[in-house]
Amino acid sequence: MLTRFLALFSLYYLIFASFSLVQPLCLDDESFALLQFKGSFIINQSASDDPSAYPKVSSWKLESDDCCSWDGVECDKDTGHVISLDLSSSCLYGSINSSSSLFRLVNLQRLNLSDNNFNDSRIPSGVRQLSKLAHLDLSFSCFSGQIPLEILQLSKLVYLDLSRNRLKLQNPDLRSLVEKLTNMKKLFLSDVNISSALPNSFSNLTSLTSLFLTNCHLHGEFPTGIFRLPNLEDLRVRFNPDLTGYQPEFNRSSPLKLLKLTGTSFYGKLPDSIGNLKLLHDLEVGDCNFSGPLPPSLGNLTQLANLRLGENGFHGSVPSSIYRLVNLEVSTNFLLFYLEPIYEFWILVRTSCKDHFLSHHLPSQLYSVSNNTLTGEIPLMICNLSSLVSLDLSYNNLSGLLPKCLGTFSDSLTILNLRHNKFHGNIPQTCKKGSKLKMIDFSENQLQGSIPRSLVNCTMLETLVLGNNQINGGFPFWLGVLHELRVLILRYNELQGAIGKPKSNLEFPNLHILDLSNNHITDKLPFEYFQIWKAMHIIDVDGPMYMQATTGFELPSYEWSDQYSYSMTFTNKGREMPYEKILYSLIAIDLSSNKFEGEIPEVMQNLKGIRFLNLSHNLLTGSIPSSLGKLTVLESLDLSQNKLSGEIPPQLTQLTFLAFFNVSNNHLTGPIPHGKQFDTFPNKSFDGNPGLCGIPLSMKCGHFEGSLPPPSTFEEINHDSNLQFDFSWKVIVDWLNIKEEEG
Ligand SMILES: *[C@@H]1O[C@H](CO)[C@@H](O)[C@H](O)[C@H]1NC(C)=O
Ligand SMILES: *[C@@H]1O[C@H](CO)[C@@H](O)[C@H](O)[C@H]1NC(C)=O
Ligand SMILES: *[C@@H]1O[C@H](CO)[C@@H](O)[C@H](O)[C@H]1NC(C)=O
Ligand SMILES: *[C@@H]1O[C@H](CO)[C@@H](O)[C@H](O)[C@H]1NC(C)=O
Ligand SMILES: *[C@@H]1O[C@H](CO)[C@@H](O)[C@H](O)[C@H]1NC(C)=O
Ligand SMILES: *[C@@H]1O[C@H](CO)[C@@H](O)[C@H](O)[C@H]1NC(C)=O
Ligand SMILES: *[C@@H]1O[C@H](CO)[C@@H](O)[C@H](O)[C@H]1NC(C)=O
Ligand SMILES: *[C@@H]1O[C@H](CO)[C@@H](O)[C@H](O)[C@H]1NC(C)=O
Ligand SMILES: *[C@@H]1O[C@H](CO)[C@@H](O)[C@H](O)[C@H]1NC(C)=O
Ligand SMILES: *[C@@H]1O[C@H](CO)[C@@H](O)[C@H](O)[C@H]1NC(C)=O
Ligand SMILES: *[C@@H]1O[C@H](CO)[C@@H](O)[C@H](O)[C@H]1NC(C)=O
Ligand SMILES: *[C@@H]1O[C@H](CO)[C@@H](O)[C@H](O)[C@H]1NC(C)=O
Repeated sequence: MLTRFLALFSLYYLIFASFSLVQPLCLDDESFALLQFKGSFIINQSASDDPSAYPKVSSWKLESDDCCSWDGVECDKDTGHVISLDLSSSCLYGSINSSSSLFRLVNLQRLNLSDNNFNDSRIPSGVRQLSKLAHLDLSFSCFSGQIPLEILQLSKLVYLDLSRNRLKLQNPDLRSLVEKLTNMKKLFLSDVNISSALPNSFSNLTSLTSLFLTNCHLHGEFPTGIFRLPNLEDLRVRFNPDLTGYQPEFNRSSPLKLLKLTGTSFYGKLPDSIGNLKLLHDLEVGDCNFSGPLPPSLGNLTQLANLRLGENGFHGSVPSSIYRLVNLEVSTNFLLFYLEPIYEFWILVRTSCKDHFLSHHLPSQLYSVSNNTLTGEIPLMICNLSSLVSLDLSYNNLSGLLPKCLGTFSDSLTILNLRHNKFHGNIPQTCKKGSKLKMIDFSENQLQGSIPRSLVNCTMLETLVLGNNQINGGFPFWLGVLHELRVLILRYNELQGAIGKPKSNLEFPNLHILDLSNNHITDKLPFEYFQIWKAMHIIDVDGPMYMQATTGFELPSYEWSDQYSYSMTFTNKGREMPYEKILYSLIAIDLSSNKFEGEIPEVMQNLKGIRFLNLSHNLLTGSIPSSLGKLTVLESLDLSQNKLSGEIPPQLTQLTFLAFFNVSNNHLTGPIPHGKQFDTFPNKSFDGNPGLCGIPLSMKCGHFEGSLPPPSTFEEINHDSNLQFDFSWKVIVDWLNIKEEEG
């Protein structure tokens, strides 16, 4: 036994020893150059982004004299020269220049320094000494400035990755590079500022298999020859908004597997022959200028795992062949079907040279097909997008019932916007406990039934827009418990019955905008609510500029957030208009075109912050309360088409921001007040009140004519009112902003 062991041992020793003898040790000068290179950097974990990064050079020691065994180093078996150096994700931080010892490793064939931080260094011209390089990767390493001519002299290069730095390729330019480096197989220049057109000479790069030119400021027409490169499998030219081009006919021998054109100005139709790209598994052409119908041949792309078509001029229906594909492939090919991403996380967070690039690697968690004319139903697939943050399908021609899972399929869902489609049927139970929804907009559809009670589970809801549907039932008083609710738009529906009284005085405490116009609501104006809508009692000038939701998510190494502005349609100063953004300080009530009766309550004066008030087209009686003169920031007051009587209180002349006033078609009598804004209103503001007299009406007021208001009235107003003329310049600026927005 022992003999056998000894025999084995000596055999092993013999093999080992002879092997060591054959294998030459690394050369002293190269070993020294490596150590010098190591010494010129600081090791800093944050210099590398890859979670598995570690400092490979830590193990490099002078004592362990065979540098060929060092981490990241590879030597030629015959000569012992270092031929490959892989220091990717090695936490190296520091500057580099041409005197770096790295350039003494003249036998290098592969050099990978990606994912380090070279502190905004230029790519040193000394790189020309590495004339045997076939593979060079300097990506994501904080290089900056112009790419040196010397890179173009590395005539053996077949792999070049300079992406995700802050480099320029302008002098020399892309044309020179393409004409010099003709053997290139993989060329990655994403984020390099190229700012030129693509040269036709690209079609000479017949070995090319991958070409990445994302975000390179390219312009001009894309050479179609590139699509025909016989070996090209992966083509990405995303986010070059000035790059135009069209898709040529594709033939069956095309090896294309990935084609990403998102965010360019490619135009024309998707050719039917796209169905010939049988290896294609990624097709992203969102946010381009494509038009025409979607070719049914897309359904033949059985390998497709990622399809993005949004933000184009496509029209017509989604070919059923695609849905067939979804159903067929979902389990076998992990097919992720996107009609449209909202946007591609193209966010530039710049705190260090690295953050800028994280956006490339984020998964799509926002989904939007907004502003296309897509038809059909919401694919049930949506229910599987369990980490979706924002779903925006607004302004399409989608129809059918809303999926039952809507609003509950994702615990992270913050925005749900289905405005302006053709959905019908009932609104499903939209919220479960813990919902993060901040905005729900189902307006401009054909939805029926009542507002689902489950909305009380949306405790973070700030904006609920359900206008322009056929929703019935009573006023959803139970939404009063949603303390964040700011905007409630229920206009143009079939709501009926009385508004009723609040059950406690803590209901709708944050409400800024209420639009119940054009329903069938009856009974008195809800004066008890006017007393408790606390947010309307103050003139808010300190809030943020616009009402918006912060949407976002966290990944292990990254946190992303964005602002989504709330929007609505509202009738203001006689015009119905879309508000793309809503000023935070806007306070407005529209109860017009209902069946409200009784008097305008005195407590209306509590709503100090109100800017737009529309009570027109109701059955209101009694006189106009003089206390409305205390609503100092009121800009628009519409009381037209009611049964109001008595005189127009002269106190209303104190409303110096009042730009629109309408009391037409009532039973008002007496003289029209004079002065300030009242000198600007046209006759149409007063028409249809046979008892009214004075300018601007032609009816004269007998001996009172023109003498109003008498001085005593002014004194009385100023004396008794608590008018807080809080006309700080802030209020005025705020008001100007509203004007601006309207314009
Ligand atoms: C990084 O560059 C700055 C500016 O060029 C320089 O001051 C600093 O010393 C450099 N840091 C390292 C670690 O090289
Ligand atoms: C190159 O960098 C080294 C440090 O790595 C520095 O000592 C030397 O001055 C630099 N040379 C030039 C020309 O900037
Ligand atoms: C391709 O290369 C050949 C020879 O180098 C050259 O004559 C030709 O102009 C090139 N083609 C293009 C489109 O640049
Ligand atoms: C088909 O496309 C390949 C590469 O995409 C090209 O090499 C070949 O010439 C094309 N064949 C025809 C008949 O167009
Ligand atoms: C996109 O198409 C529209 C019309 O279809 C055209 O007006 C517009 O100029 C195009 N944009 C670009 C960048 O080509
Ligand atoms: C799909 O491919 C088959 C044959 O591979 C072809 O007959 C059919 O026309 C293609 N369908 C479409 C919609 O292009
Ligand atoms: C739809 O897109 C057009 C053109 O890009 C834009 O003008 C319009 O405002 C968009 N509409 C909506 C509702 O986003
Ligand atoms: C959703 O995912 C489940 C498995 O997670 C799968 O069985 C189901 O088919 C998917 N539904 C749709 C509509 O894709
Ligand atoms: C919208 O869809 C309906 C059918 O649901 C269709 O009749 C109509 O033409 C479509 N409109 C547009 C603009 O695509
Ligand atoms: C709130 O959500 C829970 C599930 O999380 C559900 O059981 C409950 O019915 C919802 N409340 C209402 C009023 O619908
Ligand atoms: C008030 O509402 C009515 C009907 O709803 C509308 O016609 C009118 O234009 C609105 N007034 C203002 C000032 O917007
Ligand atoms: C006032 O309202 C009536 C409808 O009641 C309308 O006809 C008239 O145009 C409005 N006046 C102004 C100035 O808008």
